[in-house]
Amino acid sequence: MAGSRNKGNPGIMGWIDDRFPATAMWEDHLSKYYAPKNFNFWYFFGSLALLVLVNQLLTGIWLTMSYNPSAEGAFASIEYIMRDVEYGWLLRYMHSTGASAFFVVVYLHMLRGMMYGSYRKPRELVWLFGMTIYLALMAEAFMGYLLPWGQMSYWGAQVIVSLFQAVPFVGPDLAEWIRGDYLISGITLNRFFSLHVVALPIVLLALVVLHIIALHEVGSNNPDGIEIKENKDENGVPLDGIPFHPYYSVKDIVGVVVFLFVFCAVVFFVPEGGGYLIEAPNFEPANPLKTPDHIAPVWYFTPFYAMLRAIPPLFGSQFPGVVVMGGAIAILFVLPWLDRSPVKSIRYKGMISKVMLVIFCISFVILGYLGVVASSPERTIMAQICTALYFLYFFAMPFYTKMESTKPVPERVTG
Ligand code: HEM
Repeated sequence: MAGSRNKGNPGIMGWIDDRFPATAMWEDHLSKYYAPKNFNFWYFFGSLALLVLVNQLLTGIWLTMSYNPSAEGAFASIEYIMRDVEYGWLLRYMHSTGASAFFVVVYLHMLRGMMYGSYRKPRELVWLFGMTIYLALMAEAFMGYLLPWGQMSYWGAQVIVSLFQAVPFVGPDLAEWIRGDYLISGITLNRFFSLHVVALPIVLLALVVLHIIALHEVGSNNPDGIEIKENKDENGVPLDGIPFHPYYSVKDIVGVVVFLFVFCAVVFFVPEGGGYLIEAPNFEPANPLKTPDHIAPVWYFTPFYAMLRAIPPLFGSQFPGVVVMGGAIAILFVLPWLDRSPVKSIRYKGMISKVMLVIFCISFVILGYLGVVASSPERTIMAQICTALYFLYFFAMPFYTKMESTKPVPERVTG
């Protein structure tokens, strides 16, 4: 029973365990947490997300030591960090590259969940906590982007906050409430700073703890989508399970090494990522009187931005586009209840599910591209088609997952 282990024993651990369930927690979450033995590389991205989270927190704390959160001083303090603070350039590039790495890792982590049906019963809460993390991460990245107080910081925030203006009736008041002013100003910068540095990191950390507690309550899914708890030995240990520590704690190091090679290559050789990780206009200080020629959010927001631009205004209001963009994120929350397939993993689903998932991914990537480039009539049509395909994946899911024939699922996990 949790909490009663190693109590009353001599030694320092016994002393601690009498007062705090350290051994019980270590066993429940690591040395006696039985994970399926057939994890593949897709299962690296959870631990990599944790790694990137720690990177963001640590580099963020050190950046904050030299950053000046005021409209007058923010831009210059970033230049000061880059040029004068010891290793300040490294801290900043690790943080800015880390933001993009976070989204790469999280998008792949989500795709893994979609492929193997990890959102299905009994892991609905794992998915819902995950989706809430994703929302919090988007807010965190958006607010962080204002802090360098460059041209793109300023105008990006201007565009996004003014979207709230499109909400009927309360829109203009809502946008003013978010900004704290009639336009993006030092007041907005102060509140975004406080949310980015204190409030959202706390929320993110709390959500990650809930995410993992929920996962460990029900146990991990796997590429076969089989519940390993249904086949246990006489000691109650799943036959297809292996202790997370040392087996996966060591295996995850392989993922970490590969990730760090790529991450360091970007940080040291292409930290601006050709203008995709740090955009060119952000090397100019914010100027409320000069709009940049082309305003686009950072790549991880562009699929949704492309949807927004694809939907034509109604009576001069951008509200329909805002609804579609919000709906694209909201629909992911209900995914566990759209999938009616008798099997979880894509390995055993029918052809329609496979084709739909591939089309969904391709549409998402094309939307991401269309959101980066300037719009044209042809590109708008393309974006409309991809938006329709994105939603088709979800709206048609209850039907095709129910209709199609599936392959028989093996009793025990395969290799
Ligand atoms: C800060 C961001 C996140 C962190 C640190 C994180 C961490 C983790 C960890 C450590 C695991 C267990 C290892 C693994 O299965 O890979 C996991 C599993 C999982 N995560 Fe996340 N996660 C994050 C975001 C998300 C998001 C955005 C979603 C989806 C919306 C999500 C959905 C899931 C699911 C469904 C599982 C269970 C997978 C399975 O058992 O097959 N996570 N997460």
